[in-house]
Amino acid sequence: MVERAAQRPSGRGRFITFEGGEGAGKSTQIKKLADRLKAARMRTVVTREPGGSPGAEIMRHLVLSGMGKLLGPEAETLLFAAARDDHVRTVIEPALNQGAWVLCDRFYDSTRAYQGSLGSVPLGLINAMQRVTIGELKPDLTIILDLPVEIGLQRAALRRGGSTPDRFEGETLSFHQSLREAFRKIATDNPDRCVLIDADADADTVAGRIWTALRDRLLPTPASVVSA
Ligand SMILES: Nc1ncnc2c1ncn2[C@@H]1O[C@H](COP(=O)(O)OP(=O)(O)OP(=O)(O)O)[C@@H](O)[C@H]1O
Ligand SMILES: [Mg+2]
Repeated sequence: MVERAAQRPSGRGRFITFEGGEGAGKSTQIKKLADRLKAARMRTVVTREPGGSPGAEIMRHLVLSGMGKLLGPEAETLLFAAARDDHVRTVIEPALNQGAWVLCDRFYDSTRAYQGSLGSVPLGLINAMQRVTIGELKPDLTIILDLPVEIGLQRAALRRGGSTPDRFEGETLSFHQSLREAFRKIATDNPDRCVLIDADADADTVAGRIWTALRDRLLPTPASVVSA
């Protein structure tokens, strides 16, 4: 924690990404965390992928309407990459440079899970796209919300009401099971950056777990300030 704080340019904000399957509670938890940070008078920017900037929102519409699926997983990955490029350049980097805490609903781990693990897009292509779109940018913390897929899909269906499932909600149960495994593996493989949060509890309990993780990882204790 001390090392990370020492390496950051002073005044730069914090970049926190939220990941997990459909209906895991990402949007709900981002809102709760944003409210908490704002109450503590931290400058906070909430954004999402795919989308988050005017150009990227157009690509979000293309991808979630199912158009990307028709083009195939590689082309879909390129669409996501183009959207991310715009989003990082026009929203995320400027906000971080102004000292904001940027909370992003999905980021590159979703590309790795959906297009990499499930879409079988070669890791080489994903890595190359990542270098082009985000360069050295890396989340300071990634919250991965984990819960049984049946519960996540039930929550997503309840929220949707009678409307049609989107491109990814409409996939099979085994797709969502593999997705869960892919996110769990990302958490295991990146322990310095990622925290796996048990999201199978009421929203306030989950928010408490997230706050504890954030405090432990990102808010310096008096002892670490002294040692930095
Ligand atoms: N801990 C919880 N317990 C019960 N219901 C919840 C909980 N968290 C969120 N919900 C409800 O479940 C639904 C899905 O939550 P939310 O939209 O936050 O998930 P999401 O991860 O953003 O989903 P998506 O991947 O589809 O964007 C919403 O109706 C929300 O109110
Ligand atoms: Mg959401």
